[in-house]
Amino acid sequence: MRRMTTEKEQMGMSQATRELIEKLDRDHWLSDEELLALVKAGPAKAAAALLEEKADRLRRTIYGNQVYVRGLIEMTNYCKNDCYYCGIRRSNRDCDRYRLTEEQILACCREGYELGFRTFVLQGGEDAWFTDERLEALIGEIKKGFPDCAVTLSLGERSAESFERLRQAGADRYLLRHETATKSHYESLHPETMSFENRMASLRILRSLGYQVGCGFMVGSPGQTAEHLAADLAFIRDFQPDMCGIGPFIPHHATPFGNEPAGTLEQTVYLLSIIRLLVPGVLLPATTALGTIDPVGREKGILAGANVVMPNLSPVAVRKKYELYENKICTGEESAQCRGCLAGRMASIGFEIVTDRGDVKRTQAACRKQTVGK
Ligand code: SAM
Ligand code: FES
Repeated sequence: MRRMTTEKEQMGMSQATRELIEKLDRDHWLSDEELLALVKAGPAKAAAALLEEKADRLRRTIYGNQVYVRGLIEMTNYCKNDCYYCGIRRSNRDCDRYRLTEEQILACCREGYELGFRTFVLQGGEDAWFTDERLEALIGEIKKGFPDCAVTLSLGERSAESFERLRQAGADRYLLRHETATKSHYESLHPETMSFENRMASLRILRSLGYQVGCGFMVGSPGQTAEHLAADLAFIRDFQPDMCGIGPFIPHHATPFGNEPAGTLEQTVYLLSIIRLLVPGVLLPATTALGTIDPVGREKGILAGANVVMPNLSPVAVRKKYELYENKICTGEESAQCRGCLAGRMASIGFEIVTDRGDVKRTQAACRKQTVGK
C-alpha cells in the first residue's frame, strides 16, 4: 500500500518544507517555529509522502516489521468528568452505565493471555468506585496470574498518592493524553472543574514514579489551530513520552460537540509520521478512532510510522456502551476476535503482530533529548 514519493510529488513541495523534513529525519528535533511551518505545510500530498517514507524507515530500523498488541479492557464507563467531546461524559443521561467486576476483568485477561497478549490496558472513565484499595487488589491479581505481562492503566487523573500506590501494586505504564498543550484550548474542551495544570502535572508525577508514560491528543478537536498542533508537537518533543496516543476527534451526538466536524485521516497520519521522527522509539498506536474514520485507517497509520494496535478485549456485551464517539468500530458480535482480525490486517501490509510485553526501546537520541520531568 505504501509507495515511494515520486519525483513529480517531490517537486510539488517547497524547498523549505523538504529541508524541514530532512532536518527532522536527521536530528529528530525541530524548533517551535519549524514545527509550526511543518504543520502548516501539511497534509499536502508530497510532504506527507516524504514524511511517511522517512518515518517508516526509522520505525523499521528500531522495531522491524513488528507490531505490538495491547489488550484493551474498557472496565467502566462511569465518569465524574464532563469533557465536552466525550460520549461517556457525566451529563450524557442516555449512556447505559456499566462497571466490570474484578472477576470479569480477570476473565478478559485470561482470554487475552491465551490469544497471546502480554500487555493489558485497563481503561475507563474517572469512576470513584475504583478506589485505590480495589485497584491495588485488581492489579495484584493480574500480576499474580500473569507475571510476564505488563499492566497499563488509563484511568484519568488521580492524586499523586494514588498514582504511587498503583505503581507500588505493580502497574507498569500509564496512558494519560494531555489532550492539548495550550491552556486556552484545553479550557475550551473541558468544563471549569478540570484543570490544564493538573493534567500536565499528572504526567510529570507519573514519570517521576517510574511509570512508562503515554500522552497524546485528538486531531481536529473543535477549535484546534495549526498553532495548537505545533504546541502539542513541541510538548511531545520536550517530554519524550514512552507512548503517544493520537487519533481523530469524532463527534458524539449527545455532547456539546455533536455537530462539529471530525478530524481527518490525512492529518492524523501526517502527525503520526512527525511524532515517529521526533521521538524515534516511541510506542505509537494506530488507534481505533483512526480505524473508525477510514476502513483501513489503522493500516495507514502503521505504514506512516505507528507500531502498536490495541484490540478490544472487553466483553462483547459491554462494548457498545463504551461509546466515546459515533460509529466506533469493533463493538459488534463480529469483534469477539479482534486480535485475529488485526493480525490479518497487519499481515496484509507486511507486518507481524508479536507476543511480547513490547516495552519501549529508548534510542540514544531520545535519551539525550529527554529534558522534562527528570
Ligand atoms: N478517563 C481516562 C482519561 O481521561 O484519560 C481514559 C478514558 S478517555 C475516554 C480516553 C481518551 O478518549 C481521551 O483521552 C480522549 O482523547 C479520547 N476521546 C474521548 N472522546 C473522544 C471523541 N469524541 N473522539 C475521539 N477521541 C475521543
Ligand atoms: Fe476489532 Fe477488527 S480489530 S473487529
